[in-house]
Amino acid sequence: MISPKKYAKPAKSIPKGYKTANEFFDFVFNDKDMIWMGQNTNHLHDENQIMDSMMSCIKKRDYNKYPPPEGFPELKRLILEDLGLQNGFEILITAGGTESLYLCTNDILAPTDNTITCDPGYLIIDNFASRFGDHVKSVPIYNEACGYKLTPQLVRENIDDNTKLISLVDPLNPLGTSYTKEELKDFADLANDKDIYLLHDITYRDFARNHQLMAKYAPEHTVTVYSFSKIYGMAGMRIGSIIGVPEIIKSIKTIVINDLGTNVVSQRGAIAAIKSKKEWLTRIKTITRSNQDIIKRAVDQVENAFLPVYPSDGNMLTIDIYDTGVSPLDISEYLLDKKVFTREGSYTSKLFGDRYLRVSFSIPKEHVKYFAKVFVEGMKVLRDSK
Ligand SMILES: Cc1ncc(COP(=O)(O)O)c(C=O)c1O
Repeated sequence: MISPKKYAKPAKSIPKGYKTANEFFDFVFNDKDMIWMGQNTNHLHDENQIMDSMMSCIKKRDYNKYPPPEGFPELKRLILEDLGLQNGFEILITAGGTESLYLCTNDILAPTDNTITCDPGYLIIDNFASRFGDHVKSVPIYNEACGYKLTPQLVRENIDDNTKLISLVDPLNPLGTSYTKEELKDFADLANDKDIYLLHDITYRDFARNHQLMAKYAPEHTVTVYSFSKIYGMAGMRIGSIIGVPEIIKSIKTIVINDLGTNVVSQRGAIAAIKSKKEWLTRIKTITRSNQDIIKRAVDQVENAFLPVYPSDGNMLTIDIYDTGVSPLDISEYLLDKKVFTREGSYTSKLFGDRYLRVSFSIPKEHVKYFAKVFVEGMKVLRDSK
């Protein structure tokens, strides 16, 4: 008989009227009018080279063949160039940041090791780390004193002899905080001194104002997780990578899941995405910056609501509504009725989930304006109904 594994589970709540989270997703996915602010995905790409290269790959029926198992060399080279990590680093192409996180936790953690993460944070990392290590210490960071991020000082306070991995999501989902060069150097010293690994998840890197790479400061102790889901707008294609020094990547290759390689069409799209990045990056960043301002102005109209972190270095913001008396679940359900998909705090926090709503804003400006209007109206309706 198989008994369920006792992993730490992300606190996913199922919206009213649905039997499972999957049924809910199927509904929102297939609703063509739904405004997509719930998954930090990017809906700002036009019909461009990314789409063209995937279409041409399909037309040539390239998908009849398996790709080279570790990824097309051209894609590997382009990602390393994109990061400026050509010298001394190796790379493995994966089916997304998620697979990368799984492989890194699997490879680095032994059953007696523990991991430090933060709350709020990206909970699937806690889940994966708890599968392979002993336990996860999720440090509360929802306060101004630490700047809403896991600081080197907080890590020092929580570290012990069995700590093997520190998760640094940078910029952080859901808050949008990111690290300075000084903080990264401090983490590098800590990792080198104690022989601890740093999991640098840079999924939202290109939305940030001034992003730095941990791999440059602690190369031997860093695994970098790269995704094509956000800035490149390719979430549904499921593609990403892991970058590290040859010793780490060699070790990760011994535990791969996708032994026959990663989706050919996605890889062709990813190659075109990096090659064409210069042509669209500024436009997308300009739109996301001004979309943040629209959200800020709407939040300012709601008494007792505020943005803990502003501006965000990601493509998402958390809106704290705790003191308004309206719950994140109630406003997210109200918005869903108005065809706006957002995420209540419990999706990214076990401790502070009742305080905030997370909204992503890499969507057209008119959609953000519509959100701003219905959010302000909804908060009033729900508050008045109390
Ligand atoms: C911090 C972080 N890492 C990884 C992922 C997943 O990336 P991918 O779609 O490449 O699996 C997400 C998705 O939201 C994320 O927020």
